[in-house]
Amino acid sequence: MKKLKEKIVKEGKTIGETILKVDSFLNHQVDVELMQEIGKKFAEHFRDKNITKVVTIESSGIAPATMVAMQLKVPLLFLKKQKPNTLQDEFLQTTVYSFTKERFYELMVAKKYVEKEDRVLIIDDFLANGEAGLGAIRLMEEAGAKVVGVGIVIEKAFQPGRSKIEEKGYEVYSLARIKRIEEGHIEFVEEN
Ligand code: G4P
Repeated sequence: MKKLKEKIVKEGKTIGETILKVDSFLNHQVDVELMQEIGKKFAEHFRDKNITKVVTIESSGIAPATMVAMQLKVPLLFLKKQKPNTLQDEFLQTTVYSFTKERFYELMVAKKYVEKEDRVLIIDDFLANGEAGLGAIRLMEEAGAKVVGVGIVIEKAFQPGRSKIEEKGYEVYSLARIKRIEEGHIEFVEEN
């Protein structure tokens, strides 16, 4: 997605050769117009998949996922990383390891928000090692729903996330794929 890539080049800050900070439009402040276009792009791609629910992970996945859900006119469900005191319902839980943050965390969802008939589209802001995405897939499948695809705003194609998710048989669709980060320069994967 041209506009997204231009925004990344203009406003992204690199940290070493692996981390891209995009706090000005995605991870802290949100560019809502860009998010809306991102939502349309995902909706266009997944429109014929009969999606009944968009699922993301708090917190940074919520902005793009909301826009997709709005376009597809389905509910947005976000997985929680902490069990709230108010979560009285029966819930499902899975442990995820973050290679970037070097720690384990939990992903949780109340069972009542996932139906066996649900066809789920998972949306996330970044794809790095794929552990968050795989955790979300595990939870949805455990709840009996069908995951029909994974949509990613920014994929770091030099990390193994895509292949780990594709190996399990799920489609990954990313709007910007970064091939490498070198001396502050961001190189994208060529699109055909
Ligand atoms: P994974 O998401 O592919 O499993 O990779 P990993 O566990 O390594 O990533 C952990 C967290 O770090 C995720 O956010 C992920 O989005 C974020 N992340 C990974 N690489 C980058 C990067 O280059 N730039 C930025 N900005 N974020 C990156 P999180 O902990 O879920 O945070 P949040 O959603 O609450 O903001």
